[in-house]
Amino acid sequence: MRHFLTLMDLTSEELNQVLQRAIELKAMQHRHEVYEPFKNQVLGMIFEKSSTRTRVSFEAGMTQFGGAAIFLSPRDTQLGRGEPIEDSARVLSRMVDIIMIRTFDHADIELFAKHSTVPVINALTDDYHPCQLLADMQTFIEHRGSIKGKTVTWIGDGNNMCQSYMNAAVQFDFHLNIAVPPGFEPDADLLAKCGDHVSLMTSPEEAATQSHLIVTDVWASMGQEEEQAERLRQFKHYQVTEALLDKAADDVLFMHCLPAHRGEEISMTLMDDPRAVVWDEAENRLHAQKALMEFLLNKAQNK
Ligand code: CP
Ligand code: NVA
Repeated sequence: MRHFLTLMDLTSEELNQVLQRAIELKAMQHRHEVYEPFKNQVLGMIFEKSSTRTRVSFEAGMTQFGGAAIFLSPRDTQLGRGEPIEDSARVLSRMVDIIMIRTFDHADIELFAKHSTVPVINALTDDYHPCQLLADMQTFIEHRGSIKGKTVTWIGDGNNMCQSYMNAAVQFDFHLNIAVPPGFEPDADLLAKCGDHVSLMTSPEEAATQSHLIVTDVWASMGQEEEQAERLRQFKHYQVTEALLDKAADDVLFMHCLPAHRGEEISMTLMDDPRAVVWDEAENRLHAQKALMEFLLNKAQNK
């Protein structure tokens, strides 16, 4: 039985296998092929933070597989009233076949997974957002082929998305330039573990030079709402614009996990630029997570 709490929980080969399968499942879905390998199986979805894409993609994906999904919010469950995470994990995993969790503290999802008898998927914590990386890598492969050996640039906050890109640099073997304002660096231990795969800088222009993929994210993540004004001030030189993309390779792509704040981390018009592939990226959440669920359910059920 396997969990997916970070990209490091699968081998590079397994990740590539999941992405190839995501591309196949996408083609099947676009042909309106009915494929229901998980009839009567249930996905439990625990959301302690807001979501549009993650909720809809997981729920739609499980429905397309012939199964069902249950949305659980702390407002209505005993988890929100202090029932221990360990007990919730033991109980829920006796009732459902697979569980995804969006929460704050990464240690909480590790604790849940430790006590769960079914696969647990990280649907975003304060530290990582690995499902988004599956979608991003699928999108790059579909547009440009293998990402191995390419240069990828992260601009903005050293947040959960940035740290997932750091894991991706190791697992998919690309080079990641990270440009963050001083004081907003990703975790130092993680940085050390990434070795030559990651370079930390402060200049967005330097980080973008000759890059094949430029990525950014909101400046204030969920849970940092009260820091919004101060962050706007600290990040103002880190906006991704068309002019910044012009410094990159001719075939550069732009991605953003969304939701985006036009006029803050990106220019007002960047998402309309032909180099931006954000809508494909958003769609691929569905296909990549279907491939992930298939992989984890098959492993758990020895198929
Ligand atoms: N990118 C992403 O995870 O979006 P949601 O917050 O809408 O799920
Ligand atoms: N870094 C953002 C990603 C949202 C999908 C957040 O955690 O809010």
